[in-house]
Amino acid sequence: MDNKTLLFLFLFLFSLYAPISYSDPNPPSVAHAQLTNYGFPIGLLPSSVQAYNLNQTSGHFSVHLGDSCKLTLPPDNYVATYSRKITGKIDQGRIADLQGIRVRAFFQWWSITGIRSSGDNLVFEVGMVTAKFPTKNFVESPKCEGQRSSS
Ligand SMILES: *[C@@H]1O[C@H](CO)[C@@H](O)[C@H](O)[C@H]1NC(C)=O
Repeated sequence: MDNKTLLFLFLFLFSLYAPISYSDPNPPSVAHAQLTNYGFPIGLLPSSVQAYNLNQTSGHFSVHLGDSCKLTLPPDNYVATYSRKITGKIDQGRIADLQGIRVRAFFQWWSITGIRSSGDNLVFEVGMVTAKFPTKNFVESPKCEGQRSSS
């Protein structure tokens, strides 16, 4: 398999790590609420958001997590990291110029550069590679490892 095939496989496995239930109807932060306003599920951001800025004219945003955030995804211990500061440009159903979110798979770090939402599905862009997954796998905001719960 080449790298792109492996990446797709990884993202598929990632999507299987789905929260089984989500009972809290309140988004953890304003940033999460804004995600839903733009047609995205809150599970794209960890629960540790401390500050958030959005220019509603241009769509440029920054999300501050206070500290970098690491998530280990069972069952195969894939690692995803969020930088202290995530930036990008959000539009209805579209996040572009994304910086600060990476996944480690197959001995490499892959930066998620953009995300598109069509309602039922999310399309993740890693450079020229894309992979599509059900939005319902991202309904819960994950907690960072080694940090106290913020909720
Ligand atoms: C928001 O974006 C618009 C368009 O790019 C720009 O003209 C404006 O200065 C920005 N506002 C702030 C507060 O950065």
